Amino acid sequence: MGKKLLLQNIDVPGINTYEVYRKTGGYKSVEKVLEQKNPDAIVEEVKKSGLRGRGGAGFPTGMKWSFLAKPEGVARYLVCNADESEPGTFKDRYLMEKIPHLLIEGMITSSYALGANTSFIYIRGEYFYVLRILEKAIKEAYENGWLGKNIKGSGYNLDLYVQVGAGAYICGEETALLESLEGKRGNPRIKPPFPAVAGLYGCPTVVNNVETIAAVVPIVNDGGDAYAAVGVERSTGTKLISASGHINKPGVYEIEMGVPVEEFIYSDEYCGGIKNGKKLKAVVAGGSSVPILPADLILKTAAGNPRLMTYESLADGGFATGTMLGSGGFIVMDETTSIVKNLWNFSRFYHHESCGQCSPCREGTGWMEKILHKILHGHGTIKDIDLLWDIQSKIEGKTICPLGDAAAWPVASAIRHFRKEFEEYVNNPESIQDVKHYFNVHNVAEA
Ligand SMILES: Cc1cc2nc3c(=O)[nH]c(=O)nc-3n(C[C@H](O)[C@H](O)[C@H](O)COP(=O)(O)O)c2cc1C
Repeated sequence: MGKKLLLQNIDVPGINTYEVYRKTGGYKSVEKVLEQKNPDAIVEEVKKSGLRGRGGAGFPTGMKWSFLAKPEGVARYLVCNADESEPGTFKDRYLMEKIPHLLIEGMITSSYALGANTSFIYIRGEYFYVLRILEKAIKEAYENGWLGKNIKGSGYNLDLYVQVGAGAYICGEETALLESLEGKRGNPRIKPPFPAVAGLYGCPTVVNNVETIAAVVPIVNDGGDAYAAVGVERSTGTKLISASGHINKPGVYEIEMGVPVEEFIYSDEYCGGIKNGKKLKAVVAGGSSVPILPADLILKTAAGNPRLMTYESLADGGFATGTMLGSGGFIVMDETTSIVKNLWNFSRFYHHESCGQCSPCREGTGWMEKILHKILHGHGTIKDIDLLWDIQSKIEGKTICPLGDAAAWPVASAIRHFRKEFEEYVNNPESIQDVKHYFNVHNVAEA
């Protein structure tokens, strides 16, 4: 059994209530920081821990915190990103639903470290029932003196608010989130200035993912070195993985960084192997935005080394043969999966979710979706495959926020690794089961 730092008490009955959470050692990290009265020392411990942001980009958390500007007399904010709209990712929901006080404890400890007196949790609108769970937990935290004025007689004040989004993926991008939190349309901002200098209401702000903030609790309790001793290389600690697709045991797993991908897919401790004894075809390892890899490349790097669940190992080979850990949305596809159909589904999502500010993303995502639809329904040409490649290359790196990259990478990687399958749709559409089904139930002219 791998070490657990976040979910070790998840099966304790009543762990979602204040009483049980407190009995299992909850809020100890807050007691510790209020007693030590040294916010900078917490930032140092987080730096030492090697913790990297769990929202997708993997930016070192301690470094991000140390960039926070501290002008005299200006408010600072901590904003927790609980938007979690990346297809394939559902770990933050699990954490908030099952053990909400862990996030609240992390928010208090982190807010203290950053000198914030007002903090926010921005949660996606579809997680309405989780909102209710968080609201109840926050109320309990206020009632027990962990939030509000003069917390536990320390002189430190903190108010914590939950704000609900309206179900837009773009509002997970940190600057779009801040716009939305300010009551505006969630369009990403041009950076610089970065939120650490001018974030919420123009004030210095740190935006961190739910899991990142929760990880601050064990770091403060046991020290940065203890956290860094778990995991490998620059991938320290544990990671929550949302596992879905054609596996026997879908769910959220807390893994020690460094578990081999093969073990993660096939061992009974985690995914329990491919459903119905089928063969593995491909994996999207870090949420829909990251490059898809075929079975041979997800299990082993191009150099033949076992691929590990770490930032470095998953990225080994760059985009030619590697991928990214991203937000840990691990989608497993068996041999019956149509890569083209799956890609069309992803592309529909990105087209729908593009905010429309940048032309390459606004126009390109729609164009890619249409071409994929055409290919999928038996009307594509070989030129269309080349055109798809061309369009994605003109989106990547050319937009204000990385939603453009997120839309381009799945297309590029699917063509790179599965071009033959696209050609099969073009050259022999009726041989493809999905298309046959489509021909049977639809008028092709309408497609
Ligand atoms: C389109 C888009 C959607 C995103 N959605 C999320 C999200 O739902 N949750 C999240 O934590 N980060 C999301 N991010 C990343 C955030 O912009 C930001 O990097 C993250 O919240 C920082 O927290 P971390 O350093 O703890 O990872 C998204 C980024 C983009 C471009």
